[in-house]
Amino acid sequence: MYDFAADPHQRKPEFYRDLVAAADGLTQGEPDAVANMANLAALLGQLVPRLNWAGFYRVIAGELVLGPFWGRPACIRIAMGQGVCGSAAASGASVRVDDVNAFPGHIACDAASRSELVVPVLRAGAVHAVIDLDSPLPARFDADDQAGIEALAALIAERI
Ligand code: SME
Repeated sequence: MYDFAADPHQRKPEFYRDLVAAADGLTQGEPDAVANMANLAALLGQLVPRLNWAGFYRVIAGELVLGPFWGRPACIRIAMGQGVCGSAAASGASVRVDDVNAFPGHIACDAASRSELVVPVLRAGAVHAVIDLDSPLPARFDADDQAGIEALAALIAERI
């Protein structure tokens, strides 16, 4: 069993450095994308504080399709440009939403979600997937969270 105890008093950059290192250890040398996404979703859900959902949507035939995740069952297909995930996938840039109820077109998969961070996983310059984090707290995600998850996305781009 993987045993990684994040120190809750760590500063965010150090927390994410350790999280990325843990993700590296979990996925290194494993070629199966589903296995890697499943473990990464579990890692995010277990270690990142104050989340209610963490997981992947993959770009398949021009739309986003639900991948492995931690949390409640979620919407299966999201069109490019729709919702927070579709916006991030269409632009290729991370989207951070402090108040999902104020985001036009937000797709409410879990009514508990109040804020959201979506980070594209880029492979050869194209969006291959997105990492989606939801929180029951408003304005849960800041620039440090975004930078940390972007570092994770860069690490795993060729492993999922
Ligand atoms: N809220 C997302 C949909 C996915 S769920 O949060 C898991 C969106 O607006 O794209």
